[in-house]
Amino acid sequence: VGQDKVLMKHILADNDIPMANWFWVYANEIDDHKDEVLARVHKLIYPVILKPARTGSSVGIAIAHSDEEYLECFEDARQYDEKVITEKVVKPMVEINCSVLGDAYNCEPSVLEQVGHQSSDELLTFQDKYQGGGKGAKTKGVKSSGSKGAGMASTARIVPAPISDEQTKMIQDLAVKTFRTLGASGVCRIDFMMDQETKRVYVNEINTIPGSLAFYLWTEKGVSFTELMDRLINIALERERRRSRMTFSYDTNLLSTYNESSAKGSKR
Ligand SMILES: Nc1ncnc2c1ncn2[C@@H]1O[C@H](COP(=O)(O)OP(=O)(O)O)[C@@H](O)[C@H]1O
Ligand SMILES: [Mg+2]
Repeated sequence: VGQDKVLMKHILADNDIPMANWFWVYANEIDDHKDEVLARVHKLIYPVILKPARTGSSVGIAIAHSDEEYLECFEDARQYDEKVITEKVVKPMVEINCSVLGDAYNCEPSVLEQVGHQSSDELLTFQDKYQGGGKGAKTKGVKSSGSKGAGMASTARIVPAPISDEQTKMIQDLAVKTFRTLGASGVCRIDFMMDQETKRVYVNEINTIPGSLAFYLWTEKGVSFTELMDRLINIALERERRRSRMTFSYDTNLLSTYNESSAKGSKR
C-alpha cells in the first residue's frame, strides 16, 4: 500500500486524514476522455501536480499551470505508471516530516524535521535528493514545468522543525494515525505539507523505507543508531511471534458433505 500512492490515498481519505484535493485516472482516459479529465483538473484549479502512482524520488512528477502544460506533464507521468494522480499544489508550503517507529499496537513519533525549499513552485527533484542538487547531474523524467529548473537549493533540514508545540503535537498525532491506518511496522517517515498561509496541514505520503532509515530523527530523541537497529529487530521478531500464533489455513474436507444425488436433485 505504501508503494502505490492511489491505494494509499484512498485508505487515508476513508479515514479522514487530511490531504490536498486530488483525483486519479488510468492514463488511457486522456486519450478517450480528454475534456472530462481537464474538467476535473479545472475543479482543482491550477497549478496542479502530476504523479505516477508508483514511482518514488520525484520521478515523473511535475507541476502544471495550464492545460497545455498539463497534457505535456501527463504524457511524461504515464511513462512510469498506468495510473496518474493529479493533486492541487499547496503553496506557499513547507514540508515537515515525522518518523514513526513500532507497530500498530505500540508506536511512537519522532521529533519533526522541516525540509527547506528555495521557492514554492519548485520540487525536490531526484538530483536534490540523491545527487546533491548539482547542475551537471541530469536525470530523465524529472521536471518542474514553469520553474527555472537548474540550480535548486540542496535539501536543507531543520531538526526539530521550528513550529509551535501544538502544531508539533498535531503532526505527530497525524503521523501515528497514518502509520496505524496503513498497517505499517518498523520505521517509516510520514511526509506532510503545511500551507504557510492557512497553517493547514496535509499528509503527503508514507515512506515505508525512509532514506537513512530516518535515524537522524531518532538520535535527536536520544535513540542511537544501534538502539534503532535493536528496536527494528525486536519489532520484526514480535511481529513474527504474533503471526506464528495465527491461523492461516483451515483443515476441512468440504467434499465430505457432498452428496451426489442431492446435488443433482437441486439442479432440477
Ligand atoms: N500537492 C503538492 N503541492 C506542492 N508540492 C508538492 C505536492 N505534492 C508533492 N509536492 C512536492 O513534490 C515532492 C515529491 O512528491 P511526493 O508525492 O513526495 O513523491 P515521491 O514519492 O517522489 O517522493 C514532494 O517532496 C514535494 O516537495
Ligand atoms: Mg516524497
